[in-house]
Amino acid sequence: MAEHPGPMAEPPQPLVEPPQPLVEPPQPLVEPVETPPSVPELYRAEALTRSYRTGAREVRALDSVELSLRSGQRLGIVGESGSGKSTLVRLLAGLDRPTSGRVWFEGREITGLPERELGFLRAAVQMVFQDPRSSLNPRMRVGDIITEPLRSRLVRRQLSADVDHAQRLAEVLEAVDLPSDSGRRYPHEFSGGQRQRIAIARALAPKPEVLIADEPVSALDVSVRAQVLNLLTDLVAAQGLTLIVVSHDLMVVRHLCDQLVVMRQGRIVERGDTSQVYADPQTDYTRALLDAIPRIRV
Ligand SMILES: Nc1ncnc2c1ncn2[C@@H]1O[C@H](COP(=O)(O)OP(=O)(O)OP(=O)(O)O)[C@@H](O)[C@H]1O
Ligand SMILES: [Mg+2]
Repeated sequence: MAEHPGPMAEPPQPLVEPPQPLVEPPQPLVEPVETPPSVPELYRAEALTRSYRTGAREVRALDSVELSLRSGQRLGIVGESGSGKSTLVRLLAGLDRPTSGRVWFEGREITGLPERELGFLRAAVQMVFQDPRSSLNPRMRVGDIITEPLRSRLVRRQLSADVDHAQRLAEVLEAVDLPSDSGRRYPHEFSGGQRQRIAIARALAPKPEVLIADEPVSALDVSVRAQVLNLLTDLVAAQGLTLIVVSHDLMVVRHLCDQLVVMRQGRIVERGDTSQVYADPQTDYTRALLDAIPRIRV
C-alpha cells in the first residue's frame, strides 16, 4: 500500500516571505469573549444575556447581545414590547447584572463590580425614565430632586471639585428651559412636559457623558412630545453627550439617533446607520415596525 503522503508532501515554503499587505485585514466584528477590548470604546457588550426566573418558567429577556458604542454616537433601540430594550439599557447603566456576558465602559469592565466601585459609572451615565410622575419624588422640592445626584457619595468622589449646587441647579434649569424659581416648587405644580424637563435636568446635573432615555416621551401628551424631543436634540448637540434612546416609536428614534439596533425576543436582529436601516430594512420584522409608523403630517 502506498505510503500516506504526510506533511512532507506540502509545497516547499518560499525563501522570501510574500510582502505584507499595507492595509491590515478587516477585524472580525465580534472579538472573542476572552479578549479585552483593545480600542477605548465608550461601551462594549459581549454575549450579554439576562434571564428571569418566574416560578418554574425562565424568561430569557436578553440573549447573547453584542454592542459597541463610541463617544458622541446617538443610539436608538427599537423593538416590540417585551423584546428586551429596557433590560439592555439597565445592564448598560449598571442598574442590573447580567446572567452571563460582559460589559465594558471606557475600557473598564463593569460586570461583577461591587456598587462601591461603580462611582465612575454612576457619575458618567444618567438615565431618564418613561413616566416623570413616578420617577420624581412628590415630597421633594424640585431643587432637591435635581441636585440629588450631586449629593450621592459615590458620585461626589468622581466630580473634580466641590460643585456649587445652587449654581448647577440654575444652569440645568436654564438648559431645560424651566423658570429659575422652579427649585422651590414641588413636582405636582408642573405639567407632564415640564416634569420630564425636571427629570432631564436631574440627569444633566452631574455633567454626565452618557444620557440613557427609556421611552422619554411616551407618557407625554402628543402636543409636548416634539418640544421635549427638540430639547433633547439641542442638549445632546450642545453638551456633546452620547445618547442611548429606547423607544417603540420609530419616529422618535429617527429624530434623535444616528445609529439603530432593532430587537426581537432578546436579540438584536438588525443594526446600522438609522438612515440606512430606514431606507433599506433587511428583515421583515424591521419592515413591519417601519410600516407601523403612523403617517402623520406635522
Ligand atoms: N424583573 C423581571 N422579572 C421577570 N421578567 C422580567 C423582568 N423584567 C423584564 N422581564 C421580562 O423580560 C422580557 C423583556 O422585558 P423588557 O422590559 O426588557 O422589554 P421592553 O422591550 O423594554 O418592553 P416594553 O417596550 O414593553 O417596555 C419580557 O418578557 C419581560 O416580561
Ligand atoms: Mg421597556
